[in-house]
Amino acid sequence: MSDIPEAEVARRVETILAGMSIEEKIGQLTQIAGAPFFPGPEPEEVIRKGGAGSVLWLNDTQKFNALQKIAVEESPSKIPLLFALDVIHGYRTIFPVPLAMASSWDPSVAERAQAVAAKEARAAGLHWTFGPMLDIARDARWGRIVEGAGEDPCLGAAMAAAQVRGFQGPSVGTPDHVVACAKHFAGYGAADGGRDYDPVYLPESRLRNVYFPPFQAAVKAGVGTFMSAYMDLNDVPASGNRFLLHDVLRGEWDFQGFVVSDAMAVGNLVIEGFARDGRDAALRALSAGMNMDMASGTFSENLAGLVEDGTLKVADIEAAVRPILAIKVRMGLFEHPYTDETRLAQVLAQPENHQEARLAAQRSMVLLRNEGGLLPLAKNLKKVAMIGPLADSMEATEGSWMVFGHTPAAVTVLEGMRAKLPEAQVTYAPGPEIRREIVSFFDDMMPGANAKPVQTPEQAEAAFQTAVATARAADVIVMVLGEKADMAGEAASRASLDLPGRQEELLKAVVALGKPVVLVLLNGRPLSISWAAENVPAILEAWEPGSEGGHAIAEILFGDANPGGKLPVTCPRKAGHVPLYYARDLSHQPEDHPMYRSRYWDGPTTPLYPFGFGLSYTTFLITNLKLATSKVKVGSSVSVTADVTNTGSVVGDEVVQLYIHQRASSDSRPMRELKGFERLTLKPGETKTVSFLLGPDELGYWSTNAGKWVQDAEYFDVWVGADSTATLCAEFEVIR
Ligand code: BGC
Repeated sequence: MSDIPEAEVARRVETILAGMSIEEKIGQLTQIAGAPFFPGPEPEEVIRKGGAGSVLWLNDTQKFNALQKIAVEESPSKIPLLFALDVIHGYRTIFPVPLAMASSWDPSVAERAQAVAAKEARAAGLHWTFGPMLDIARDARWGRIVEGAGEDPCLGAAMAAAQVRGFQGPSVGTPDHVVACAKHFAGYGAADGGRDYDPVYLPESRLRNVYFPPFQAAVKAGVGTFMSAYMDLNDVPASGNRFLLHDVLRGEWDFQGFVVSDAMAVGNLVIEGFARDGRDAALRALSAGMNMDMASGTFSENLAGLVEDGTLKVADIEAAVRPILAIKVRMGLFEHPYTDETRLAQVLAQPENHQEARLAAQRSMVLLRNEGGLLPLAKNLKKVAMIGPLADSMEATEGSWMVFGHTPAAVTVLEGMRAKLPEAQVTYAPGPEIRREIVSFFDDMMPGANAKPVQTPEQAEAAFQTAVATARAADVIVMVLGEKADMAGEAASRASLDLPGRQEELLKAVVALGKPVVLVLLNGRPLSISWAAENVPAILEAWEPGSEGGHAIAEILFGDANPGGKLPVTCPRKAGHVPLYYARDLSHQPEDHPMYRSRYWDGPTTPLYPFGFGLSYTTFLITNLKLATSKVKVGSSVSVTADVTNTGSVVGDEVVQLYIHQRASSDSRPMRELKGFERLTLKPGETKTVSFLLGPDELGYWSTNAGKWVQDAEYFDVWVGADSTATLCAEFEVIR
């Protein structure tokens, strides 16, 4: 059904539109909830009248078909529904969370993962996923950092395009794929104080140079839909923001798809103190460029009245409907509205889906420390203790943003270790439990989520002592600590970045036993593990690795896989240091200045681990940095090459990263900016040459002073290395 010529799609859309009443047109702009927890009229009733274009929060193939039957047989114009859901990192086979996938620095990991997710979701009857999330996040307090690709626009743009290709295939309507949705446009990750939904203030230069590139990359990759963000951007809610939804998205980027609001966001324009009432909210959202109202009912309640009294024209409504119908035409829904209910079980059971998930998990993990080569562990271990509240947690292993109705079914770290060491004694003690102090409203929606009674202090103490005793009886201890899945994600911001609960205390008690300790972290945001970074010999950042997480972790711990992931975020020493990111502007007293003192007097402000950092079981040397020319004209490109050699004794991966700095300019420019990267596998002793191209896209930027995109004729520094502190350096000049 893909690749229907543009003109043919447009012709069919006009034919459909010509037969529709104004109520039905408004219906297409309305997305309704299929969830039983959601108040409002029965979906069947609304659909029968042609009052809905799309249904969300439903994950039931039979119900999809039943609702679709009503839409295509009983509604006036018989227009099929689009079924939408958040399929963020897997439908049934769960992949590492997006922040983890970004740690692979391998866009093909994200592309393959989302292709599997799309295939499973499509077989279930879904047409449209609310992903990828493309919000740059430089503040780890913000819980939704887990859903994105981290702090950097270059890495973020590469991951954005890869995910769009994975979800959609080469174009909207490719069989076994779903429509993607680039969200949340835009700036959501920069919420004041890292508090989810709070206002965002970002100057235009920051928006255009940092926050927009992943979204623009998604448009270039052909993304079918966008989702507006919840919060105020520079005092204008993103869901009523014409600059974002009209001027930039349609005007500058020529986006041809449609925009859906975030859930309830059109109605919320009233709560936010922007719109006077629902009528005003509907008018302002539609006028800003919103096509579809997610779940608030504000469009369906108010648009007809606005047309009747002449405030809006029918043509305004039709303009909003067209791209929605176009997606339905491209998806082939008019020809094939139903889903084959017998297929799902076969698609979900594919062993190759799990194989992909395992590989993705291996490639996503970041080795943060390995003193004395403690890792990889020997396979002839006799007694291993698995300690920590997450060691046997399926839920923490699969991570945040589960598909609606999904039951966690991951291989836990404990299970992975036991499978790897069938002959050994692998003991387990969780220690004291960890919990959110304030329960998530998402947990409230899930029956039974908070059913477990809270551990009393006495029970916690007993669990603590059991854990220490279990560790004492072992030869090697693997501690699995971090955050539970509901501690990151939406409405899951934190004021602290420490290990929650008594985990660090337990870690200290276990390390004090003087035995080899490996720390495996399961978490959705970087944590300030300053004590561990100095006192625990081996630390593996496994993030939330998905269904196959436990196997992948065991494979890494025993050296069957060599870790090669790198941090997509700067890891701060303390929560008080955020936002901390590598691409800062220089100050009048930069780090190499004689007067430089730490920015805070109560400790170093350098990151605990820098952006781009990650170790391997082998070592690499990056040398021979060469530029094809030392002078390049504005508008032309310079090629940069370097050699990377595996200087160790095992096969391993290095991510070679290229950073630039412009020495003087129309505006101040960041001290370093990532402009290229490549993950390579090298055998011991092997050398490969990597090459990058720096052209106007990499060397230009949006200037506050000029009020436009510029490329200056200036001197540049260029570094190539293994993380954002790379020292191998060269220079070149851009000339007119
Ligand atoms: C989230 C979106 C999500 C939507 C639908 C909202 O609360 O912000 O990311 O796609 O719900 O579930």
